[in-house]
Amino acid sequence: MGERLLEVKDLSTHFFTHVGVVKAVNGVSFTLDREETIGIVGESGSGKTVAALSVMRLVPDPPGKIVAGDVRLAGRDLLALTEDEMRAVRGNDIAMIFQDPMTSLNPVFKVGDQIAEAIMLHQDKKKDEAWEMAAALLERVGIPDAKKRVNQYPFEFSGGMRQRAMIAMAISCNPDILIADEPTTALDVTIQAQIMDVIREMQTQFRSGVIMITHDLGVVAEIADKVMVMYGGRTVEYGPVDAIYYDPHHPYTWGLLGSLPRLDLAEKHRLQPIKGQPPDLLLLPPGCPFVGRCAYEVPRCRGEWPPLELVGPDHGVHCWIPVERRLEMRAGLPRFKEWVA
Ligand SMILES: Nc1ncnc2c1ncn2[C@@H]1O[C@H](COP(=O)(O)OP(=O)(O)OP(=O)(O)O)[C@@H](O)[C@H]1O
Ligand SMILES: [Mg+2]
Repeated sequence: MGERLLEVKDLSTHFFTHVGVVKAVNGVSFTLDREETIGIVGESGSGKTVAALSVMRLVPDPPGKIVAGDVRLAGRDLLALTEDEMRAVRGNDIAMIFQDPMTSLNPVFKVGDQIAEAIMLHQDKKKDEAWEMAAALLERVGIPDAKKRVNQYPFEFSGGMRQRAMIAMAISCNPDILIADEPTTALDVTIQAQIMDVIREMQTQFRSGVIMITHDLGVVAEIADKVMVMYGGRTVEYGPVDAIYYDPHHPYTWGLLGSLPRLDLAEKHRLQPIKGQPPDLLLLPPGCPFVGRCAYEVPRCRGEWPPLELVGPDHGVHCWIPVERRLEMRAGLPRFKEWVA
């Protein structure tokens, strides 16, 4: 086992709104070691961003509150830090690429100023040098004409360029942990690959741990060492990347894998979205949030949340369906054989 950077245990974050309590994250646990990449996957609204914002302690309060759990950075209890101490952690130790680039770019300052500012704050560089580094970083994330662009304001950038500017800002401080929330969703494929390379380079150079949040299971397969599958604010399955792709145990994970576009299959077999709607987080059932959409549910699924069941080394699943039945059903999935072959 490598050096442990982050340990998140039983994290729960709820939003106390006027219509009720939105249970966005419910008892999520994971760890991240040096040089390791964890992929967090799950469909829209499953709590991925809120889980990441909780680690950064950036959940808007009110209405949000971390109601339970433990977040430790190299043993340090992040939930017990003062706001000043936490500010030092952000940027120095943990940086986040936000899903919405405008969250971290200030519209009234030049892009170069903002990146240079981050560099000066965290790396003790003079202004000239920081500006040069900012331009170099913009170039590295694929912004054409970077020397000119550093002098522009965020509104002069396209959405994709803003995303890249934010990535440049996040990696400028060489953080121990980089949280990337859908970093490439808005970008075209060539730029996507380039961004992934930049993140990987940074990771190798600084031995960072990376938390990659994405809908794209292709990206996860490529870069993650392990995967956490979230649904309705819960971790339904967790394990090494190969285990998730070749030995998935949760029916929701099967659904996710089943909805992957597969160029090697005939048209009619491609892209099968999971039927039904994600659960209303205001009215979560007491049991598994996937009930109602799961084709295999047993009566117990509606009663209580299943405990963690280990099905392989560091590979766990929360599911009431007995393991023999699960394997039987999985084998019966026509499109699935390719994944488990
Ligand atoms: N400020 C807020 N007030 C109330 N509810 C919120 C707030 N922020 C997030 N939520 C709720 O928390 C739940 C989880 O949201 P989250 O953004 O973590 O989903 P996600 O998995 O990141 O989805 P996506 O893939 O679309 O980014 C959602 O139901 C969302 O409506
Ligand atoms: Mg999100």
